Order: sequence, then C-alpha cells, then structure tokens
Amino acid sequence: MAATNVKVAVVTGGNKGIGLGVVRGICKQFKGDVILTSRDSERGVAAVKALEGEGLSPKFHQLDIDSQQSIATLKEFLEKNYGGLDILVNNAGIAYKGASTAPFTEQAAVTVKTNFTGTLNVTKALLPLIRAHGRIVMVSSRVGRLGIVKPHLQEKFNSPSLTEAALVTLMDQFVQDVAEGKHTEQGWPSSAYGMSKVGMTALTKVVARQAASMDDVLVNACCPGWVATDMAGTNARLTPDQGAETPVFLSSLPAGSPTGELWYLKKVIPWDTHFS
Ligand SMILES: NC(=O)c1ccc[n+]([C@@H]2O[C@H](COP(=O)([O-])OP(=O)(O)OC[C@H]3O[C@@H](n4cnc5c(N)ncnc54)[C@H](OP(=O)(O)O)[C@@H]3O)[C@@H](O)[C@H]2O)c1
Repeated sequence: MAATNVKVAVVTGGNKGIGLGVVRGICKQFKGDVILTSRDSERGVAAVKALEGEGLSPKFHQLDIDSQQSIATLKEFLEKNYGGLDILVNNAGIAYKGASTAPFTEQAAVTVKTNFTGTLNVTKALLPLIRAHGRIVMVSSRVGRLGIVKPHLQEKFNSPSLTEAALVTLMDQFVQDVAEGKHTEQGWPSSAYGMSKVGMTALTKVVARQAASMDDVLVNACCPGWVATDMAGTNARLTPDQGAETPVFLSSLPAGSPTGELWYLKKVIPWDTHFS
C-alpha cells in the first residue's frame, strides 16, 4: 500500500442532492483531496465541473455501491494513490416514490440491496484503509426510527452485542418475510425505505464497535432532515446544502466525540425520536 501524506475523503452518491452538498461542504473545510463518487461517470464528471465553477477542486471516481467490482476498483485506487482513507460519507441511497406501483416484494429487496447491503459492502471494503482520526458518516433517516419494528425486533437491532452477520440475517429475514407475505405478522413495517434505514443505523453501531480498537476513529449516522432533492421532492423544507450540514459536521468531529450514535441538527438524538 502506498503511504502518502495527502489526506482523502470519499463521498458516495456525490453527483446530486445531499451528496453534492456534502462534497461542497467538505471541500470548503478539509485539508486534503475530496473524491466525489457517482455510479454514472458522466453525471459525476459534470458535478465535479460544476463545483470547479465555484472555485472548489473535488476529484472524480466512479462508484456503484451495488457492484462489488466497482467497490474493489475504488479501494485499489485509494490504496495506490493515498495509502489509506480519512473520511467516508455513505450518502448514496434510493427510495421508491409513494405512488410507485412496483410490488412491495420488489421494493423491499431492491431498497435493502442498495441502502443497506451496498452501504455495508462499501464500509466493509474501506474500513481497513481508514487511518487514525478517520471519520465514517452514514446518511440514514428519521424514517428508519427503531419504533417502526415490533419490540422483539427492536431488542435485536438495538442489542449492544449485535454482530454484522446477525444484522445481515435480520435484514435478509425482512426481505424474505415480505416475499412470503408474512412481514406484518412477524413484526416488520410496510416501509422498505424505513427498514433499509433501520439497517443502516444498526450497521453504524456495529461498525463503531468494530472500529473501537482503532485510534480515534468515529462512526456515526445522521438524519439530514427533509431536504428538497429528486428523492424527497420540491415541497421539502431544506436545501441540499442545509441537509449536508450535519453529515459535513460529523466528517470533522473532534476527538473524544460520541461514536455509534444517530445525529440530527448536529446533536445526538435517541434512535426512537418521533418527528413532527
Ligand atoms: N432528501 C431527504 O429528505 C432525505 C431525508 C433523509 C435521508 N435522506 C438520505 O440522504 C441520501 C441522499 O439522498 P438525496 O435526497 O440527496 O437523494 P437523491 O437526490 O436521489 O440522490 C441520491 C444519490 O444516491 C445515488 N445512488 C443511488 N443508488 C446508487 C448506487 N447504487 N451507487 C452509487 N450511487 C447511488 C444517486 O445517483 P444517481 O444520480 O445515479 O441516481 C444520487 O447521487 C440518501 O441516502 C437518502 O436516503 C434523504
């Protein structure tokens, strides 16, 4: 692995929406290279050009979080050019529209595959590259509050001894129970997106425990708020830059700050906070 003195930050799904705002925000405060990643190279390069027009200098690398090959290629690039990684913001995500007529079985499988499994695969691949004082940020959501699953499942997701393998099994079980038409009786919600974010917040806690022996590596999740993007629509209250504020803040948390927590408006909140 190449050892270099240049620090580096990676943002997933950086070509638009909150991810683009996160790239912009990190570029303004981070002393190192900021890699804007996008699954579509054309959209990614266009986003980099737009930020260059604002006087910022992000770099581009392709990353489709659904593809292990794409993840491996990014990992090799980071190893070769930087010898490590200092900031990882897992922002990429999908949501079916409320009006979608896609069967719930499909929505559950596809949404969990990207938002949970894709995020897990990126984090698992890149965690060994994270250097001392590294920061990992998961852009989760208030929609994925713990209370959307029944108490026996809450206990499992919130267990301080939950392992990565056990979490994967739980998420697979959700998808399978939906496919078998028994998710409600088994205590799961009828929100594929919400469940994918429950998985992402639980993953944050698992990864924070995995990183506990590393030197000042903090792993946190956040809700960015209700942000006007292609995902949330134009009625949402916040601009993408406003939505990016908490993830950007978490990317530079000072040593000794909390880890394995869920944040909103730059403050730790209980996982089961109800929002109006
Ligand atoms: N907007 C909100 O109110 C809100 C609230 C809570 C949480 N969030 C979360 O915030 C994050 C960003 O959402 P957003 O509102 O900015 O949505 P968005 O405008 O739809 O942007 C989503 C980004 O994720 C990318 N993406 C999707 N699948 C990907 C994949 N397989 N590999 C790599 N990139 C992928 C998209 O790329 P393409 O352009 O190629 O599709 C896009 O860059 C998501 O995790 C979302 O769940 C949003």
